[in-house]
Amino acid sequence: MSRILITSALPYAAGAKHLGNLAGSMLPADVYARFQRSRGRETLYICAADEHGTPAELAAAEAGLPVADFCAQAHEKLYATGRAFGMSWDHFGRSSSPQNHRLTQRFAQQLWEAGFIEERVTQQVYSLADKRFLPDRYVIGTCPHCGYEAARGDQCENCTRVLDPADLLHPRSALSGSTEIEIRDSKHLFLRQSAFAERLRTWIEDKRGAWPHLVTSIALKWLDEGLQDRGITRDLEWGVPVNAMDWGPNPDGKLPDIAGLAGKVFYVWFDAPIEYIGATWEWADARAAEAGTGPAPEADWERWWRMPAAADVTYVEFMGKDNVPFHTVGFPCTLMGVNERRDAEGRWSVASNTPWKLVDNLKGFNWLDYYGGKFSTSKKRGVFMDQALELLPADYWRWWIVANTPESSDATFTWEQFRDQVNADLADVLGNFVNRICKFAESRFEGVVPEGGEPGEREVQLEADVLMKLRELTGCLEDREFRKSTTALRQLWVLGNQYLTEAAPWTAIKTDRDRAAVVVRYGLNLAALFAKVSEPFIPFAAEKIAVALGEPFPGRWPSLEQGRGPLSALPPGRPIAAPEVLFRKVEEVQAAEWRERFGGSEAAAEPA
Ligand code: MF3
Ligand code: ZN
Repeated sequence: MSRILITSALPYAAGAKHLGNLAGSMLPADVYARFQRSRGRETLYICAADEHGTPAELAAAEAGLPVADFCAQAHEKLYATGRAFGMSWDHFGRSSSPQNHRLTQRFAQQLWEAGFIEERVTQQVYSLADKRFLPDRYVIGTCPHCGYEAARGDQCENCTRVLDPADLLHPRSALSGSTEIEIRDSKHLFLRQSAFAERLRTWIEDKRGAWPHLVTSIALKWLDEGLQDRGITRDLEWGVPVNAMDWGPNPDGKLPDIAGLAGKVFYVWFDAPIEYIGATWEWADARAAEAGTGPAPEADWERWWRMPAAADVTYVEFMGKDNVPFHTVGFPCTLMGVNERRDAEGRWSVASNTPWKLVDNLKGFNWLDYYGGKFSTSKKRGVFMDQALELLPADYWRWWIVANTPESSDATFTWEQFRDQVNADLADVLGNFVNRICKFAESRFEGVVPEGGEPGEREVQLEADVLMKLRELTGCLEDREFRKSTTALRQLWVLGNQYLTEAAPWTAIKTDRDRAAVVVRYGLNLAALFAKVSEPFIPFAAEKIAVALGEPFPGRWPSLEQGRGPLSALPPGRPIAAPEVLFRKVEEVQAAEWRERFGGSEAAAEPA
């Protein structure tokens, strides 16, 4: 059985995260991780704060804090909010960690020594007013491809094209707004992505059909446009320093110009994906520290990432569509080029193949909008993660977001649709079922799983229906079809309500106590099953149901084999207790008030 390695795109340390951030990577990754663990697979779910680069620097400047302090706080906050939403990360790291510094420098060095990194003198945007270079997001201007006027120097948000600050038309400083800008020479390191074009194309072509169409089409579009070599260093202070390294010669026997590169750092998009590995190293070190055994041996984290130890690992990445190019081109180039091998004396040398694990499955998402417009921190439009939890428990949000995952197209949040859906699915279907069956068992069967009676045709039918839906749900989750998986789960819950209504134990009990006992026993078993299979989606409510029925939590995913009845798990005689109300309905007035407070359709017409 394969081990499952899961990463979700690393959220920038900058700024509050809105529901779209949750929808576009972390939450589906969490659902998938919980599902795989409950299937009994060894699973590692890694995430981290993306702390380097201009987004963090700009946000720190705005907050008036030194960037290191700002990032430490931002990491704490991201971690706490994510946990409150039930993120079951095995580790939530920091791209500024010593482990990531070491790996990033080591990879760059290997790439240089293999001849995949070159030095070039480039023209950089320099601000006379700010007296500094303005890399990436420090420059704002008009996108030369689509004409979007607020494009940032690293990427156009509108057409997703990756940009160079010097490409922007009408550039201005994001710091001072100044347009007094000149172009100056600056020496930088370039990753020769073009050298990987063919290998990347073969690799991506091979994933066609297996990966979402959205993902392979973005990747192939990039390759069709011709792969550009990318600058992987920046004129910034905060980040992984370039010069603090023990460089060896490249294949031409040349060493890099350390003096000329002094004071520069690696580009955030170079070190951030490496942090997937860095954070796994942090995780191994943290576990070793907990066990009191000091720093972890490298084998502890390498077994998830380095061949051959990682040969049985299936690596799945989750991200929004804007991140796809960096994960189908940039990061794979790094890993394909870092073809180091350790010799008997522990020295690194170049091997013919990368020993690093490339992604096996890449799940990319479209956008989640707010009333058809963008969520916007600056315009105060839309619900942010921390605010959302002040309104309602995490499960409401988790359920709605997964049920509306922007998979085949963009999705949009409205308070009206949110209210209707969580009320219908969670309160009326699941909550109502669990409540009815537990209350009835309490009042008529002394609060224990009833004994006696023989299951009849209706139960045979129920088992068959449940098994069919269960297989469907399992298949959807294995395929990472999140929207469809919520449909299957909802239908499973509905089977419970239909069964209770038809089998009507409250009628049966008047004439045939044994018959009522069978129905209640099956009903309670259904509830126990719901706890297990709902856990990936709504873990907090699932736990309450499991506790009410005396079941372990989190439980094991039920068997899909015929005759291994998922509806006979609870031992007769076991005490149960109805849980407190699982889901309160969202009132119309609440939804209206929240719409007022967080902005509604009237705001959607403005650009973000
Ligand atoms: N911070 C980036 C974003 O929010 C995602 C980085 S993913 C990583 O768009 F792999 F590079 F870390
Ligand atoms: Zn554009």
